[in-house]
Amino acid sequence: TRLVILISGRGSNMRSIIAAAEQGELNIDIAAVLSNRPDAAGLQFAHDAGISTAVIDHKLFESRESFDKAMAAEIDRYQPDFVILAGFMRILTAEFVDHFAGRLINIHPSLLPKFKGLHTHQRAIEAGEKEHGASVHFVTAELDDGPVILQAKVPVLTDDDADTLAARVLEQEHLLYPAAIKKLVTQQAD
Ligand code: GRF
Repeated sequence: TRLVILISGRGSNMRSIIAAAEQGELNIDIAAVLSNRPDAAGLQFAHDAGISTAVIDHKLFESRESFDKAMAAEIDRYQPDFVILAGFMRILTAEFVDHFAGRLINIHPSLLPKFKGLHTHQRAIEAGEKEHGASVHFVTAELDDGPVILQAKVPVLTDDDADTLAARVLEQEHLLYPAAIKKLVTQQAD
């Protein structure tokens, strides 16, 4: 099963997927890691792990459409079975989503359908949630929508702030994303 991973920053979720592959827990080929930001820290890590990397800098494009076209063309060079969004912080056009329908996967730091969009940890605290977490889901044209593949839950503690809660969720994300990809890979093999 061939993957292309898209990042925008730190890339800790990407690292958890690379680690799972290296440890033989996931039977995948990571064909490339692509970023919309030249300064994404995850690019260096991927490069050092021997993975092809490329930057498609959204700032060099006049429109969302033209950026998405260029990104889709770059992804298509690798003919991936799945396109894995891992902290990829761009809203995608319907054309892009349609082009990769059924192959486009995202991780979102909330128990979807709760708290779509940004600042999920702060919003979960403010809403008085007792439980919070992360979801891996298929991407559809609506932001942070689409069928959930797997979720992980964490408790919200009374003394949590957004940072402590985010850290607890992130720890789970690093287990969740490889597990969700494993589920997809297994289903594909059936
Ligand atoms: C993660 O919390 C992810 O759920 C969210 O952005 C963060 C990305 O972190 N969408 P990283 O780049 O994978 O370290």
